Amino acid sequence: MDGLTIVGHPLVQHKLTLLRDRNSSIQLFRTVVRETATLLCYEVTRDLPTELVEIETPVAATRAPAISGKKLVFAPILRAGLAMAEGMLDLVPSARVAHIGLYRDPFSLQAVEYYFKTPDDVGDRLVVVVDPMLATGHTAVAAIDRLKEAGVSDMRFVCLLAARPGVEALRSAHPDVPIWAAAMDEELNDHGYIIPGLGDAGDRTYGTR
Ligand code: URA
Repeated sequence: MDGLTIVGHPLVQHKLTLLRDRNSSIQLFRTVVRETATLLCYEVTRDLPTELVEIETPVAATRAPAISGKKLVFAPILRAGLAMAEGMLDLVPSARVAHIGLYRDPFSLQAVEYYFKTPDDVGDRLVVVVDPMLATGHTAVAAIDRLKEAGVSDMRFVCLLAARPGVEALRSAHPDVPIWAAAMDEELNDHGYIIPGLGDAGDRTYGTR
């Protein structure tokens, strides 16, 4: 699908299977969310611009590539996005973090905002929005609406697992925001859960159910 990158790397696919397995412990789930996010981060940053900088190796002076421009922003959608953001920070420790507090109203399935905090100059930076599950797409669309209101124009969205309806909703509301995911499932159930999915990512990360 246009604008959607499925990361088919065997390590990512193996880890996603561990996440889908209902018998995986909370500890394993949390660890593997973080590891998978690190691998997805590698993919989403693949085309970042670089510039040559002057350095000295122990042997000689040389020019070598370094990432150019302002530091990235990771924008986890609370709370399930937090563990993914940690995995991305393992790879890009100098990144800034914007927290977006949204929850899904269980009846309307619409996103409700309760917290929003970004770096002051977020509009000048590439923002990678992070949420493990792209289900209906309502939360992702609301988060990106809000970031655009705050002046952000350069965004990417990364999830562990997408559902076709969520991808379609996000692509239609924000065609300028490309999506990365480990897989896309076809359906949602009546409660907005991805089928077969992996269950409630927040509850499985934090052991709240
Ligand atoms: N959020 C989750 O945590 N899981 C789903 O399947 C859908 C939304």
